[in-house]
Amino acid sequence: MKYSWSVACEVLRIEPPLQGAFRETIRHFMYNGYSIPKGWKLYWSAHSTHKNPEFFPEPQIFDLSRFEVKGPAPYTFVPFGGGPRTCPGKEYARLEILVFMHHLVTKFKWERIIPNEQVIVNPMPRPAKGLPIRLYPHKG
Ligand code: HEM
Repeated sequence: MKYSWSVACEVLRIEPPLQGAFRETIRHFMYNGYSIPKGWKLYWSAHSTHKNPEFFPEPQIFDLSRFEVKGPAPYTFVPFGGGPRTCPGKEYARLEILVFMHHLVTKFKWERIIPNEQVIVNPMPRPAKGLPIRLYPHKG
């Protein structure tokens, strides 16, 4: 289900459920001219990395071609984090998302009851009113 997963990935890029997480530095290093001491807590942000036009041209546009061929460069698409602490639930989440999408798309047509419902972030992004929808089963 490559196409469906590209759709899910582009949603995860634009609205990563976890905005980022913390790391502790194990040695002193320089980054972009800043001196980062050993022992500091750093926050890495999936949200700002996913919106960087250097890695995702026109980042506000929903564009599935970003996930074609080689896909994003390493550590630029990080909705599940990266490195040794990468989300251990990633593959389970992928399975769940694809099974849900498969049943929704093959069994129903659906429409949003609130057409321009806002996404609020508190602390994770979610539709402000819980995304009420009307389902129409496919006939036959
Ligand atoms: C769309 C769904 C999910 C997203 C976007 C997500 C995202 C993340 C992110 C960004 C991290 C931090 C990774 C890092 O620090 O590099 C994380 C950690 C974690 N996730 Fe998920 N996750 C999802 C689903 C799940 C599920 C389904 C489970 C369990 C069944 C799970 C269990 C965990 C655990 C235990 C950690 C902590 C790992 C550690 O610190 O070693 N996640 N997740």
